Amino acid sequence: MNKKIATADSQALPPEVRPGQSIGLLKELHILTRDGKLNQDSRRKLKQVYHLFQFIEKLLLELPASDTGPTLADHGAGKSYLGFIIYDLFFKAPPHGIGQGTIYGIETRSELVESSKALAQRLGFERMRFLNVSVAESTQSSELPEQIDVVTALHACDTATDDAIDFGLQKKAKYMVLVPCCQAELARALNQNKAFNLRRTPLAELWRHPLHTREVGSQLTNVLRCLYLESQGYAVTVTELVGWEHSMKNELILAKYTGQKKRSAAERLQALLKEFGLEIQLTHRYPALDQAPA
Ligand SMILES: C[S@@+](CC[C@H](N)C(=O)[O-])C[C@H]1O[C@@H](n2cnc3c(N)ncnc32)[C@H](O)[C@@H]1O
Repeated sequence: MNKKIATADSQALPPEVRPGQSIGLLKELHILTRDGKLNQDSRRKLKQVYHLFQFIEKLLLELPASDTGPTLADHGAGKSYLGFIIYDLFFKAPPHGIGQGTIYGIETRSELVESSKALAQRLGFERMRFLNVSVAESTQSSELPEQIDVVTALHACDTATDDAIDFGLQKKAKYMVLVPCCQAELARALNQNKAFNLRRTPLAELWRHPLHTREVGSQLTNVLRCLYLESQGYAVTVTELVGWEHSMKNELILAKYTGQKKRSAAERLQALLKEFGLEIQLTHRYPALDQAPA
């Protein structure tokens, strides 16, 4: 049952807290102290969360109106603080004309899924669902609808971002909001053939030193992800998640479905795989490439 939740209207609170925001949630996320104060650290944390929310809110407002409201799947949800904040600021009381919608959190760590379920219940956030499955498994889960409007993956580990892209493609997502995390798969593949590639091409100097292998691996992974999305009909913007400057992983990839599959992007992707000697190890990451672009 829905409990009566204290919101920002009901107490004297720091000006950063928005009207209607759940005080209970902000305390659970340790943004507000028990006595409703913001310290320096949490003020910065709140600023960061608002910054990311502002990107996502714009996308939610662009969605066509529907009775059921928007659907959003957050992959590698962790403690689900992103999902909770989006629910609190948008889904709880969506703007007029937008149906209520549902947020799905996907997370492999069962204790995090259980604690998110319990928190959603305490807060009365009834249209939040949490699934204890991997991103890859969630694509086939009967607990998720056939179509999902917005896919988010914030620092989902390693290839979970690739699985989130695959999920988004299969669920015909209108938007994907990806902040990739550490990336090991491609760097591992570069390492495997290093000696051969150093003889084959001067380009291999880019990943000769282990530190460069990691950096180039990470950069190339995201470049290939962007090309893949473009080849599948998405317009892609890459920007910095400002406010996350303390984190090395602050690249924000925003993909919007336009339906215009770019043949040139598919060709470039394949050319890069060939140039970097990655065709054998990495082609499986881009299964939809086999279907010729329109
Ligand atoms: C670095 S945390 C990020 C959590 C949250 N998105 C955030 O930004 O606070 C990554 C989370 O992804 C989860 N994870 C990693 N691989 C996953 C996978 N393949 N499927 C689902 N969850 C995964 C981990 O258990 C962890 O909770």
